[in-house]
Amino acid sequence: MLTTSITCDTPEQTFQLGQLIGRQAQPGDIWSLSGQLGAGKTLLVQGIAKGLGFEGPVNSPSFNLQHIYEGRLNLYHFDWYRLMNPREVEDLGWFEWTGRGGVVAVEWGDKFPKLFPATTLKLFFEFLSEESRRVIVEASHPESIPRVEELIKCWPL
Ligand SMILES: Nc1ncnc2c1ncn2[C@@H]1O[C@H](COP(=O)(O)OP(=O)(O)OP(=O)(O)O)[C@@H](O)[C@H]1O
Ligand SMILES: [Mg+2]
Repeated sequence: MLTTSITCDTPEQTFQLGQLIGRQAQPGDIWSLSGQLGAGKTLLVQGIAKGLGFEGPVNSPSFNLQHIYEGRLNLYHFDWYRLMNPREVEDLGWFEWTGRGGVVAVEWGDKFPKLFPATTLKLFFEFLSEESRRVIVEASHPESIPRVEELIKCWPL
């Protein structure tokens, strides 16, 4: 298991971290994003979309539950905040979307951890202050650990 801690002192830095994740993304990457309301999950995904070359608007999927953005790789953006049962996630075609060779980013991923494969990259936001976040990135599979190493090597941008 590899865990690393990154500090994002401004919203812009969180966006840039997302951008780096998007640039380094490989087909099949799955990110579970966790942290309280307003932590920065959607902002990070906006950065991922930008890093993947998607230029349009990226909104929170709290109500629509899922958005798809077409970039260098497709980005499948989910938000599980309103879901109560893992069955609801499966009914949205979860196992189909995660098998399409795109990039998957799930807000509130820690609600249903069992739905993720072992290679999932996990990211947790903690509030340090109004404008500052601690971002913990975690990989627990031999295939995904080098991805976090690569991320740390290139951070900050
Ligand atoms: N260092 C920071 N990183 C990220 N966001 C920050 C930071 N400092 C302040 N913010 C602000 O916090 C808010 C984060 O909003 P965002 O929608 O990304 O949160 P979220 O985690 O997706 O919330 P929700 O659980 O409601 O979906 C934005 O208004 C952003 O400007
Ligand atoms: Mg959000």
